[in-house]
Amino acid sequence: LKPPVKILVTGAAGQIGYAIMPMIARGQMLGPDQPVIIHMLDIPSTSEALGCLKMELIDSALPLLRGVIATTDVAQACKDVNFVIMLAGFPRKEGMERKELMSKNVAIYKAQASALEQHAAPNCKILVVANPANTNALILKEFAPSIPPKNITCLTRLDHNRALGQLSERLNVHVGDVRNVIIWGNHSSTQYPDANHAIVKTEFGEKSAKELVANDTWLKGEFISTVQQRGAVIIKARKQSSSLSAASAACDHMHDWILGTPKGTWVSMGVYSDGAYGIPAGIIYSFPVTCDKGEWSIVQGLKIDEFSRAKMEATANELVEEKNLAYSCLD
Ligand code: NAI
Repeated sequence: LKPPVKILVTGAAGQIGYAIMPMIARGQMLGPDQPVIIHMLDIPSTSEALGCLKMELIDSALPLLRGVIATTDVAQACKDVNFVIMLAGFPRKEGMERKELMSKNVAIYKAQASALEQHAAPNCKILVVANPANTNALILKEFAPSIPPKNITCLTRLDHNRALGQLSERLNVHVGDVRNVIIWGNHSSTQYPDANHAIVKTEFGEKSAKELVANDTWLKGEFISTVQQRGAVIIKARKQSSSLSAASAACDHMHDWILGTPKGTWVSMGVYSDGAYGIPAGIIYSFPVTCDKGEWSIVQGLKIDEFSRAKMEATANELVEEKNLAYSCLD
């Protein structure tokens, strides 16, 4: 076994926190040979729930779990952590203005950026899940200048997994035989789920998903809208947002980032744009990436048709607008 690493989960007393804890402590995030010490942070009004979560983790007798800290103190939570999963956020309340919501989240991410900068281990790697995920990650990057921008990412893997799920259902194949869909842009309803480059393993060899589906109307219509709207459909039915699939996607994101993507496979991650594919630099945008030795790289040179280009730009425009709104909250 490797020496233990410290993982901070912020907003740990929430829904995703409850679902993700056993996944982390059973090695689904960092592998079955990686012991973990979990730091759980939430706000004081949740401290009882946080304490219970700690008890339940102890009661699960998990061999990879080498320690649990449940705290409402940000500095203690951030102390020497190697990995950070940020679930903490202010939820949208009935009748709340977009700016008011943004302003609450900007304040949270600004404060936590400073704490991470001061207390986290050097080279700590961060995944922001809480919405607005891309813009929260951007604020974190802006207020933690000593953390390399490459170490700050946001979750679009849930959307990626949803897209794989839709193709596998449509083609009646195992989801594990489908790969290389792409989520471009924002984790919001403007995201662009793109199946143009997806590949399916079949008994006759590897085939293009687009050719197998052979229905452009579905690929450009229902496929995209189903993935874009899936989160909203779940909220409506469940009266709260997806937790289990979000927790599972967060594990996939960290797993592939740290342990690497298989050869010939890419995944979608919200990362700091360097201007690739003509997307404005300086926003956190979801791209197809491959990962090796803990470093992600944007997949280069994919052919982009006019339909895709328009969708990629629309979601980029939304992110630029969100960035401006976030900055206006800092004044
Ligand atoms: P939740 O509301 O159950 O949990 C959020 C937790 O954050 C609460 O326990 C709250 O007390 C805590 N919190 C609030 N402010 C805090 C602060 N300053 N410091 C520490 N903790 C703080 O929400 P849930 O369902 O667990 O979702 C978490 C976030 O993830 C939400 O923002 C949700 O919209 C987002 N989400 C993102 C997805 C993605 O694919 N990127 C998918 C699903 C959810």
